[in-house]
Amino acid sequence: MLNQEMINELEKEYQDDEWRLHFHLMPPVGWLNDPNGLCQFHGIYHIYYQYAPKSAKGTGGKCWGHYTTKDFVTFFKEKAPLLPDSDYDLDGVYSGSAFVENNIVHYVYTGNRKYQGNYDYIYNGRGHHTMYVSSCDGYDFSEKICLMENKDYPHDLSCHVRDPKIFKEKDIYYMVLGARTLNDQGCVLVYRSQNLKNWTYIQRIETKAPFGYMWECPDLFEIDGQKILITCPQGIDTKGIHYENIYQNGYFLINGDIEKEYQLSCFTELDYGFDFYAPQTFMDEKGRRILIGWLGLPDIPYTNPTVKNGWQHALTLPRELSLKNNKIYQYPIEETKQLRKNHLSCHLSANELWKCQSRCFEMKLSLNNLPFTIQLRKDIELLYDKKVLTFKMGQSGYGRDERHIEIDSIDNLTIFNDTSSIEIFINAGEKVITSRVYDQDIPVIQTSLLIDMEYYDLDSYKIETKKAS
Ligand code: FRU
Repeated sequence: MLNQEMINELEKEYQDDEWRLHFHLMPPVGWLNDPNGLCQFHGIYHIYYQYAPKSAKGTGGKCWGHYTTKDFVTFFKEKAPLLPDSDYDLDGVYSGSAFVENNIVHYVYTGNRKYQGNYDYIYNGRGHHTMYVSSCDGYDFSEKICLMENKDYPHDLSCHVRDPKIFKEKDIYYMVLGARTLNDQGCVLVYRSQNLKNWTYIQRIETKAPFGYMWECPDLFEIDGQKILITCPQGIDTKGIHYENIYQNGYFLINGDIEKEYQLSCFTELDYGFDFYAPQTFMDEKGRRILIGWLGLPDIPYTNPTVKNGWQHALTLPRELSLKNNKIYQYPIEETKQLRKNHLSCHLSANELWKCQSRCFEMKLSLNNLPFTIQLRKDIELLYDKKVLTFKMGQSGYGRDERHIEIDSIDNLTIFNDTSSIEIFINAGEKVITSRVYDQDIPVIQTSLLIDMEYYDLDSYKIETKKAS
């Protein structure tokens, strides 16, 4: 069974490698997936995440890893606060969320069990328990309480019911849970409670026509009074240049009443790159709605060479969300500016090859709504023509090929480039592309247009290790 001593030993083994990112959070060793329990408590941001320290492929037991920060520049690596050590979660402390109220952080998560036997682990053989813990400081957690087990969920559901997220509205607590029905339809269950302990099922949020077989990681919140449901549907076929990844991420706007009648808008993807999944949001003490995603995806047909160095995946830059014309815009939080150094403002002539100053940078390109071609790094190409942006990767994509976005016009792009990742914000966050990329040279750029460029080298995060107890 995974314990803190074992984790400390595994983390000691890790050797730095050329693909380690400079301004993104990664697993100290092994595998990382979803961000979990995001919150700010007494000024400190807590970023927990799905962590499998024993294997870069995610096997060998999942716990919650933990980083904290006050400023998004200096981070502390904390001990793992939730280990798979109870009958309810022996086969994985799965994803969950945090809810801060009255000097207490309340957490809910999914305790995963995979029982021994000849099971398919979808319709039988699996326990998905909704678990509760609390904390007075965000570091040490109370005893685990099981709030609900599979027999407590509606009876037309498969065993897959997971990833609880809590919010409060008019003195009532609500919980949303991702689910797969016995008929393989993805949906979100809505529960209500007066005390965070006893939960009553209200109804489910689903589309009129089936939309995938499972909805993972639901998150329901408001921006400017508009209700939004983010979720990750699995089982949606690619349609032309839409839904090109194995699993999707995106949101519905919700109108009406989640306890009674509601209407869902159409589904809009949040990120169009090869490596983005399971985002989670939280409201910080300044009232900002901040999103962090998994800079990765499960079950991908392309690869990450970091696996042979004993680790895989990372978290995205934290992004602040806003709503404009009923669309979510995402942009790296203000604090990211603290990493800036060596500013440069210049014109790039058409077809001029420009060498960046370092491997880590932020670059804003003004494109004036014209068609363009941009070559970037070793073999990334961005082509914009006939209202479609194509993001093309060569060898440095390790099997990643092309992704597309339909977009009426492109005025500007802002690129956050790290050693082995790239995040591209189109029109100040109207659309986003997030991907891993593996080349080692100092990046170069060449564009088909004369363009204005604002450029900054970016400094690294400072990651301090607290002595684990
Ligand atoms: C999403 C997910 C969640 C689950 C977790 C397990 O990536 O599959 O649904 O709780 O990962 O690590």
